[in-house]
Amino acid sequence: MLLGGRIPLAAAATCVVALQSAQRSLTSVIFAIDDTYTEGEHFNDYTGFMERASGHLPASESSAPAEALQRLVVDRVTLRYPGRPLPAVDDVSLTIEAGQTVAFVGENGSGKSTLAAVIAGLREATSGAVTWNGRPLADYDPDDVGARIAVVSQDFHQWPFSAATNIALGDMRGEPDVDRLEAAAARAVAHDMILDLPYGYDTLLDRTFANGQDLSGGQWQRITAARGFYRTADLLVMDEPSSALDPRAEDALFQAIRDRHGVATTILITHRLANVRHADRIYVLHLGRLVESGTHDELLAAAGRYAELFTLQASGYHG
Ligand SMILES: Nc1ncnc2c1ncn2[C@@H]1O[C@H](COP(=O)(O)OP(=O)(O)O)[C@@H](O)[C@H]1O
Ligand SMILES: [Mg+2]
Repeated sequence: MLLGGRIPLAAAATCVVALQSAQRSLTSVIFAIDDTYTEGEHFNDYTGFMERASGHLPASESSAPAEALQRLVVDRVTLRYPGRPLPAVDDVSLTIEAGQTVAFVGENGSGKSTLAAVIAGLREATSGAVTWNGRPLADYDPDDVGARIAVVSQDFHQWPFSAATNIALGDMRGEPDVDRLEAAAARAVAHDMILDLPYGYDTLLDRTFANGQDLSGGQWQRITAARGFYRTADLLVMDEPSSALDPRAEDALFQAIRDRHGVATTILITHRLANVRHADRIYVLHLGRLVESGTHDELLAAAGRYAELFTLQASGYHG
């Protein structure tokens, strides 16, 4: 058409530019549609995940209000993780009375954390039951019984909030209370450390924010323990709460745990056996099974697995 003189050169050039621009726009639209589709798929994944996750929550048939803990019974509890040939917790039975401090000890992978999670209602046993004052945990309103249990798990969460909020997350009912926050932090040996931060309790614990601050593993562990103390729970589960603490902080934390004795109930999981001597009862797990239980003195006299582990550590400290 150009050669035939039917359209002038300028018009032909404009036409080419217009066509190219239209093509580019079309490509952008196609990419945008593709992006939207992909995002939609992600959203589907997300909603599907949330649906599946809610299916894993312990079923609650009724919703009786949970009274203060008097006795907690673990009755032949077994938990199998999907795809694992051996149960993580294998036919474990034990009784914890209100006010007691009990310890779960055993080597890595012996089932301590899993058993604690079942007791705290965070995982459902494959078989067997946990009863709270004689009624299965599942009979209670999960929020209600959950409010009576605090768990300081070994894989702690570092929330990008202020130090105060990080601790207050331990009890989301009601507004954070400054006195309670500071008392919980003091018990977890976190109070002075927080005061030393640039903005004290208001310091943002995330370096990606302006004026934010990152903490060391041991400092995070103190914040996490404070979160556990902040909830006035009948039952406090402390799963390896001192693994990253220096000896002085560790000693103070265990003193705070001992202070709960007779006042509230504590399940303590730790490898520092010197700190479980005071426990009312020590449960020794091995490959998911409860292999020994008793007081420190009873277990030493029994000269079994606990005595072996304890002697090994004691010789490490003194020898
Ligand atoms: N989420 C999980 N999925 C599959 N297996 C797990 C999971 N958590 C723990 N286990 C397995 O269950 C067993 C007990 O683990 P755990 O309760 O964490 O022991 P402990 O706290 O005594 O170290 C181990 O063999 C571990 O590998
Ligand atoms: Mg563990």
